[in-house]
Amino acid sequence: MTQSHSAADAYQPEAYHLERLDAAEQQRRVAAFVATMARRRSVRQFSTEPVPFGVIEQAVRAAALAPSGANQQPWTFVVVSDPALKQRMRTAAEAEERENYQRRMSQEWKDVLAPLGTDWQKPHITAAPYVIVVFEHSYGLAAGDARVKHYYVRESVGIATGMLLAALTHAGLATLTHTPSPMGFLVELLGRPPNERPFLLIPVGYPAPGATVPAITKKPLDQVLIHHAAGDAPAL
Ligand SMILES: Cc1cc2nc3c(=O)[nH]c(=O)nc-3n(C[C@H](O)[C@H](O)[C@H](O)COP(=O)(O)O)c2cc1C
Repeated sequence: MTQSHSAADAYQPEAYHLERLDAAEQQRRVAAFVATMARRRSVRQFSTEPVPFGVIEQAVRAAALAPSGANQQPWTFVVVSDPALKQRMRTAAEAEERENYQRRMSQEWKDVLAPLGTDWQKPHITAAPYVIVVFEHSYGLAAGDARVKHYYVRESVGIATGMLLAALTHAGLATLTHTPSPMGFLVELLGRPPNERPFLLIPVGYPAPGATVPAITKKPLDQVLIHHAAGDAPAL
């Protein structure tokens, strides 16, 4: 059997339909989504108030619907609400972050972080009712521990994480995308297999009463969007 023959056998099509919206409804929905996303901020002061687990579960369901290289879905979302485990994660994260802030970070790095007001202390890890740790699967594991090559892992996990953040924001929850690097301690603390690498740690919950965020701005649309309309192509 030739390669193309077997590839044709592997492709099993199914019908796909997408509800057709009129232009006004498209505008309405996308504007509503922009308004929701505009409320998302990285929150570093969380309330300990509980959040229903079902909301977290549904948000992870949304994330897991993301596109991925060759549909390999190279992700695991570990949700931690156990206070003792969150405390162990915070202690380990703060040990790395103390080292980062006191020794490892360049002055250039500290300068760009200064407007955010962050330091090595990470109380949000224990205050937030949930901490979601996103793991990327650097490779897959087949029967007998054989390694399966994965494609576009970072792109895939980044997209899935974006969808997770969007879903949580849409549900009225606050998040922080946190990277207490190096994050290897999370593999051990959360008992993950050797093919999984921590990607992001995301505390989730409600902002603490009186929480503040840094006053920062986003680039205007004309700095991030370039549209080549018909007859508008750049000269070669
Ligand atoms: C990949 C990534 C890593 C980040 N790591 C940290 C972090 O370790 N600690 C932190 O306080 N914020 C972290 N942030 C949050 C950024 O500082 C924040 O997104 C940025 O300042 C913009 O603010 P906003 O999220 O409120 O729009 C990270 C964001 C991203 C996307």
